[in-house]
Amino acid sequence: MIIIVKSFMNSYHIIIPPTCINQEYKGMETMGRKATLENISALCKRRGFVYQSAEIYGGLNGVYDLGPLGVLIKNNIRNAWTNAITSHDKDILFLEGALLGPHAVWEASGHIEHFHDPMIDCTKCQHRFRADELEIERPCPNCGNTAWTDVRQFNMMFKTQIGASVDHSSIAYLRPETAQSIFINFKNVMTSNRVKIPFGIAQIGKAFRNEITPKQFLFRMREFEQMELEWFCKEEMVPEFFDFWCNARKEFYTTIGITKNNIRIYEHQKNELAHYSTKTSDIEYNFPFGWKELEGIAHRGSYDLAQHSKHSGKDLSVYDEEIKSSYLPHVIECSIGVDRLLLTILFDAYDEDIIEGQARTVLRLHPKIAPIKAAFLPLTKKLSEQTKQLYEDIVKLGYKIEFDESGSIGKRYRRHDEIGTPICFTFDFDSLEDHCVTVRNRDTLKQERINIQQVAKYLKNVLEE
Ligand code: GAP
Repeated sequence: MIIIVKSFMNSYHIIIPPTCINQEYKGMETMGRKATLENISALCKRRGFVYQSAEIYGGLNGVYDLGPLGVLIKNNIRNAWTNAITSHDKDILFLEGALLGPHAVWEASGHIEHFHDPMIDCTKCQHRFRADELEIERPCPNCGNTAWTDVRQFNMMFKTQIGASVDHSSIAYLRPETAQSIFINFKNVMTSNRVKIPFGIAQIGKAFRNEITPKQFLFRMREFEQMELEWFCKEEMVPEFFDFWCNARKEFYTTIGITKNNIRIYEHQKNELAHYSTKTSDIEYNFPFGWKELEGIAHRGSYDLAQHSKHSGKDLSVYDEEIKSSYLPHVIECSIGVDRLLLTILFDAYDEDIIEGQARTVLRLHPKIAPIKAAFLPLTKKLSEQTKQLYEDIVKLGYKIEFDESGSIGKRYRRHDEIGTPICFTFDFDSLEDHCVTVRNRDTLKQERINIQQVAKYLKNVLEE
């Protein structure tokens, strides 16, 4: 608890009870797991993480826009992933492929033939469902009718046309995965860079799928972003690298603060494998709606390079000096959706607790992921100038921090708890005399006084934890 008193000089002081100094705050009660889709999506809108796209026109289903905090947190997620995959003393190169691909690419990749979901309609209300997610012996969940159309296969790629002429050669598709632009550029990357097998090509970028039933907010979207790593190696090295990447990728989630017990590996049965895969392990997260795929790790064999060699007529094999012959490398793929990971992080970090009888919502985000790293708060507007000076000194160091002077100190703390700001520095009237500020920890509510000269170092330590 913080007690703010007005002194006889009409100035304000924060009094920190001794129990709050250098120890966890005792007046905090937890309320159990409160993260629901409704809570998370309401918080995202309220605080400017994510908005429904075209909301003022009724919204576009399965498509979302990122608000200012969403942009910051997604950049932190992309950076964390990039740092993680490049931290293993392995050659990884980056690519940014086009979003549009000609018909030929998707024919070769198998997406024209295989990238279908089974679709079924209710004959009464015309509501459309994925047939594999519905028990058709049961009534329509929308209107209760029991008659259905036949199951039809629905290709999930968005088809478009390039240029003015309407013939087969003008057909193009928005990519349903980023991976294919890596495979079709494999030879370009290899010959324009001095890399040898094994090495990886990684990409972060948009993918589009015309999902029959987009749902669960950012979990299943029609326009989303993927982070994919295609690791090229010799066939005999596949078991070793498959285990290596599974472990490395699982480990990644704890380094960004996700609860270890909420992550597990699920190995696909043979009948669950995608058309290109001979082995796939999913990293799953324990969502409120069950254990679901967060990342897929797949052995794609030489399927993609072989298909593109065959369909394009260009040899994508690699010459092996040792055995004096050419071969097609095998591929291990690690593929994750940035938005699905954002949703996961929000679920994992969301908490509601009670402090001194007052409910608060808090995002216990890892400092690496938090959109705002620290807030600089004058106790009253009379102290704004001095606090602003401190804020300006720290912002020059390149940290994403905020200066916040509006509203009561308690309200400002709550706002920063809700957006996951790990620490707040409060400048009060004592600061003018003792050159110290109060540091408040979001999670423990621990408060301590530190010298203003120590602020940069303190922040650096928190962010490097
Ligand atoms: N290149 C392989 C591939 O795309 P996938 O299992 O279809 O495999 C990989 O997708 C990851 O992309 C998933 O684990 C998930 O995180 C994300 N993802 C797939 N479809 C998505 C969608 N409709 N909305 C949001 N994320 C999605």
